[in-house]
Amino acid sequence: MSEKSKAVANKSSGAYSDHEYEKGLTVIHEDAVANPGIEPHRVRMTDKSEKHEKNAVRQVALLFSLSMLGSALALYAYFAFPISEDLTTVRINTLFLGVGITLGLLGIGIGAVHWAKTLMPDNEVSEERHLTRGSDEKRAAAIEIINLANQESGFSRRKLIRRTLYGSLALFPLPGIILFADLGPNLGDKLRHTAWKQGTRLTKDPYGSPIKASEVTVGSVFHVIPEGLNPDQEDYLEQKAKAAVLLVRVDQDELVETAERATWSYQGIVAYSKICTHVGCPVALYEQHTHHLLCPCHQSTFDLVNGCKVVFGPATRPLPQLPIAVDSEGYLIAQSDFHEPVGPSFWDRSVQQ
Ligand code: FES
Repeated sequence: MSEKSKAVANKSSGAYSDHEYEKGLTVIHEDAVANPGIEPHRVRMTDKSEKHEKNAVRQVALLFSLSMLGSALALYAYFAFPISEDLTTVRINTLFLGVGITLGLLGIGIGAVHWAKTLMPDNEVSEERHLTRGSDEKRAAAIEIINLANQESGFSRRKLIRRTLYGSLALFPLPGIILFADLGPNLGDKLRHTAWKQGTRLTKDPYGSPIKASEVTVGSVFHVIPEGLNPDQEDYLEQKAKAAVLLVRVDQDELVETAERATWSYQGIVAYSKICTHVGCPVALYEQHTHHLLCPCHQSTFDLVNGCKVVFGPATRPLPQLPIAVDSEGYLIAQSDFHEPVGPSFWDRSVQQ
């Protein structure tokens, strides 16, 4: 291989290498693809005929108006066809919402494309690449071009198109915004309160018969719900799930009570929320010898005689205690609701506990 052909090989491969190439392997590129240049401009009907131009304006305005109608339909459908228990209402609501939002979006999209294709100038232009920031003259020229484009596209001049475009753009996002209302009902302070109130009798789950303190012997466990929960009420399961309580009697001397909670028990009878503070399973197992309450889901273990503090497992809070007393007939009653939310911790517990 001659020095000349070797140099050509290296040059054409773009890198210098130690390898020698046989003469004839080197491909010397010539300009393989000729620049085709810009396609010749095709004159459109709207460029030639005022009648076609006016038609195109009406079509674009019609499409933007269709978008407005679609958005209005979606808004109307949201309120006119509310979702209820009946699955048909879900179908009707989503059908009209979908049709409205689709029309709202399609009207803007197709209208904008149709406007650009039929009415805006479609001359292709090219220019040499230049520095990112042009000179002041060029910037002034650019502004002139923008103004010219504005004039030619008729954005300022064609008020009908401009206003219908503004209208469709303004209305289109509204259906999307009102859909946020479906993220869920506002829970208010529902998570902080249960059906327990001052004077509510403790009753056996599920029969609802009140419990006398004298019935509760040492070592016995009762599953308890508040008196007055009606299985026919709409939120029965929700209320029961929050208010479920475990009632246990232990030897009073074994109870370790803080000064604040000294009056929350009655002669060794204590009541604690049955809802695990880990992720809400029912704490249902009571170990009489150790006084441990055990959650079967992930084995969180609570020390019943010591404020139901966590002694094992993933739960991070003690079970909330229900302050109890006895009424004039000897039945166990609640002194108040729980003093803290029951169940698993939720995100803003620390703010308003
Ligand atoms: S839900 Fe009770 S330990 Fe997980």
